[in-house]
Amino acid sequence: MLLLENIPLAPLTTIRIGGPAKYFVEAGNIGEVQEAVVFASSRDLPLFVLGGGSNLVVADAGWPGLVLKIAIPGIDWQGRHDEDGRVLFDVGAGESWDKFVSRSVMDRCAGIECLSGIPGSVGGTPVQNVGAYGQEVSETIASVLVLDLKDGQVRELCREACEFSYRSSIFNSTERERFIVLRVTYALAPEGKPHITYADLKRHFEGRETPPDLAETREAVRYIRALKGMLIVPGDADCQSAGSFFKNPVLSEEQHEDLKKRAAARGLSVPSYPALETRKKVSAAWLVEHSGFAKGFGSERVRISSKHALAIVNRGGATAADVLALKEQIQHRVQEIWGIRLEPEPVLLGF
Ligand code: EPU
Repeated sequence: MLLLENIPLAPLTTIRIGGPAKYFVEAGNIGEVQEAVVFASSRDLPLFVLGGGSNLVVADAGWPGLVLKIAIPGIDWQGRHDEDGRVLFDVGAGESWDKFVSRSVMDRCAGIECLSGIPGSVGGTPVQNVGAYGQEVSETIASVLVLDLKDGQVRELCREACEFSYRSSIFNSTERERFIVLRVTYALAPEGKPHITYADLKRHFEGRETPPDLAETREAVRYIRALKGMLIVPGDADCQSAGSFFKNPVLSEEQHEDLKKRAAARGLSVPSYPALETRKKVSAAWLVEHSGFAKGFGSERVRISSKHALAIVNRGGATAADVLALKEQIQHRVQEIWGIRLEPEPVLLGF
């Protein structure tokens, strides 16, 4: 295990903000993860587990403890299938998520093609149940190999044990900070068809005679993400962000009725899709845009993306304090006008 000190964290995040880590370890295997954990606990240092840094805002003062970057590699398919005939892939938590999606599409295995172009690492996907364009990883995760910090044991959690829901699992809710994800096993459908239900995707393929295959679906998703500034394109100032900055709020029946009334009073109607209706979810981007924040709103250094109202972009030189100030301004206005509290989606570290 190589222990480093005073390592700047901004370059390890997609929004490129934040101060240094007092201690830093990059662990390429399970043994190194265990060693780093022992080091942190023996010194009573707060531990933060870093994946791809794509959903993270680090405070300007940095992190006073140990940052443990998980770099466990490997995409393995050893001819294993589950009882439904789905192919089982074991993937190291440190692998690039999009590299794994690309590999699955090349192998003509369906189930994660709509999750193309998402930055970050495999280990982060179960934590927040990554989802996009009509798919969520909870539909394909078979099990998760973890280090349990309660007793130092490595154990395998089945899908049910992870208690997945929208952007949530035990890893970021009830059992937060208990487990470190080491490896994830995904069950994918060999020769499966792509999942085309999301409005943007359907529109993209409208008028085609033949149904798109997995590779075309992957390309379409990446194309749509790029239009929204949600694909990392080197040199594009709009993609220096942490992805969606707010979760799409899930409302109670009453809150949903109240929202519709407030919208009607303004001559507006709240956007509706089947997936939104069944979960009583609303579009956070719509709330932001209808609270006086147009795309591109903000200052020289930090602003709402010019391509999508849900992303906060570091235009260069932004501090974590700048980001937090804009976040609070948005939350305040949305609450005032719509009576809804927007919750941030990225992890806020060291605040
Ligand atoms: N919607 C549907 N069906 C559709 C179209 C939209 O249910 O056919 C829903 C979406 O699920 C979302 C809302 O309508 O709840 C607004 O849709 P939009 O396309 O504007 O997406 P978004 O809210 O900006 C969400 C995710 C993105 C993901 C896109 C595409 C969150 C916080 N964000 O964004 O994820 O890529 O949908 O599916 O849930 C991220 O989490 O960082 C992220 C980029």
